[in-house]
Amino acid sequence: MCGIVGYIGKKEAYPIILNGLKRLEYRGYDSAGIALFDGSDIQLCKTQGKVADLEAKAEKNISLKGSLGIGHTRWATHGVPNDINSHPHYSNSGDLVIIHNGIIENYASIKKELINRGYTFTSDTDTEVLVNLIEEVKKQENVKLGKAVQIALNQVVGAYAIALFDKNKPDEIVVAKLGSPLAIGIGDDEFFVASDASPFIEFTKNAIYLEDQEMAIIRRDRDVKVRKIKDDKLVTPYVQELQLNLEQIEKGGYDHFMLKEIYEQPSVIKDTYRGRLLANEGIVRLGGLEDHIKRFINADRIIIVACGTSWHAGLVAEYIFEDLVRVPVEVEYASEFRYRNPIITEKDVVIAISQSGETADTLAAIKLAKEKGAFVYGVCNVVGSTISRETHSGTYTHAGPEIGVASTKAFTTQITVLTMMALRLAKSKGTLSQSDYMLHLRELDMIPAKVEEALQSDENIKEISKVFKDAANFLYLGRGYNFPVALEGALKLKEISYIHAEGYPAAEMKHGPIALIDEQMPVVVIAINNNHYEKVVSNIQEIKSRAGKIIAVVSEGDTTVKEMADYVMEVPVTPETLSPLVTTIPLQLLSYHIAVMLGRDVDQPRNLAKSVTVE
Ligand code: AGP
Repeated sequence: MCGIVGYIGKKEAYPIILNGLKRLEYRGYDSAGIALFDGSDIQLCKTQGKVADLEAKAEKNISLKGSLGIGHTRWATHGVPNDINSHPHYSNSGDLVIIHNGIIENYASIKKELINRGYTFTSDTDTEVLVNLIEEVKKQENVKLGKAVQIALNQVVGAYAIALFDKNKPDEIVVAKLGSPLAIGIGDDEFFVASDASPFIEFTKNAIYLEDQEMAIIRRDRDVKVRKIKDDKLVTPYVQELQLNLEQIEKGGYDHFMLKEIYEQPSVIKDTYRGRLLANEGIVRLGGLEDHIKRFINADRIIIVACGTSWHAGLVAEYIFEDLVRVPVEVEYASEFRYRNPIITEKDVVIAISQSGETADTLAAIKLAKEKGAFVYGVCNVVGSTISRETHSGTYTHAGPEIGVASTKAFTTQITVLTMMALRLAKSKGTLSQSDYMLHLRELDMIPAKVEEALQSDENIKEISKVFKDAANFLYLGRGYNFPVALEGALKLKEISYIHAEGYPAAEMKHGPIALIDEQMPVVVIAINNNHYEKVVSNIQEIKSRAGKIIAVVSEGDTTVKEMADYVMEVPVTPETLSPLVTTIPLQLLSYHIAVMLGRDVDQPRNLAKSVTVE
């Protein structure tokens, strides 16, 4: 998830683009770049770091003149954050320059073909491959830039929002969209392009939001021609008048980044398995894992190290790996593991899970495991982060920047990656029947739609939150795969509402916590229809008999628990192994609404940091 900005008009483009990039920095902040046309040539400057670093470098190194330009703030997916991989990227001739937000899945095969035709590449990015493909088409077909873009985009698979221009035709910008957002601002004799309207809201309230599979040729002092990428057909664009203010735009119209990130889960789970899960072909392919399958399969055990919410994702993975791959798994708090003098051998595989990739305790646990000869695999969300560099190999979640301190979409994308890893390993180890394997792939492919459905209970959950917002304590109960989800639900409530909450395996109640139950104690029970159902029903009866208030997460169509519980939050029916991906959604929303109703600073809760880089 990067931020892209472009301008063509009468004003100086530099200040507009720079300010626009600052507005979009919440979308990605590991490198930034700008390309301006100064009337005779392209002035390009890019750097690893924040937009402020770009500003400092550009003002020293390039002419800032010109009324045509494009700019980019990056959230790396392909190629670590550094100057070379930053955008914009030139084509080999230097005539074309492009910025891109998204992932080109088949870039490796296109790159190979272009290298055979004599093209060279300076970066590791999929974007540099795309601009050279456009250049090659333009040359071979002898067509204008717009047509070349249309033809080239029909050869790529993936998601993109792109903007590019040709220094030989500096009176137009060409843009295109599939899967990533792109807005065009219609000003007086000037045009803006951006990932959202925040870069141009103060200049114009008239905007066109391109639809998927659409492209536009924006010509200086003239117009915007929108076309379908598939068949080049002209489209009459809908120009809407913007109602949102700046802050609202950055949060996508949501009141908080946390709520926005909760609602982003269907698309980021899809982004996380894009090009990795081909359910119909029965393929799971994780670049970082392929060369180490044997190491995992022959491992004595898998040790998972992490902190906080990532540790809860690790607990879910314990159930998945032991169930599907039949390998012993231990889940360790990184902070304890690093000082416990644990027994680790080179026959062990360690999986380190971290959203930020900078958590000090997890980093130290990695270093210790490596010293003792274990193979260390990372599951991270930040490309190029310290943990991604320290581990021997790994897989990135593609959750995009997670701004809210309370982790939500990182949790579900971590579970998505860990599930794909387990399925890939089970396939090679033969610990899963072909029919079960295919069933899991198809079910995983349906998860984004099921999460979308679970989000539709939001209003109902808001009503439940009103009832319990003044509770002094909460208990969360789950069994099997949903015990970690109970822990995660309790953590979410604690960290943003400041209400004391504890998660427990439901059966553990009788061994102590049941003493806490009375009519003041709300108990959230994950009671979905799976092989623990009957046991959970009797746990609910035990709580009811002590007057506890039951808020139950139930499967669609459930009747039994519905009659017993005081309140229910429904989720779509999902196989046990994948159920944490949907059961966690109502718990995220419950904690969010209660915290908002208590007037908490939901995105920046007290005493907490997004990344704990000190021990
Ligand atoms: C979760 O909502 C918290 N922000 C916190 O527990 C977090 O999960 C923990 O600090 C681990 O962070 P990491 O995933 O970036 O390593």
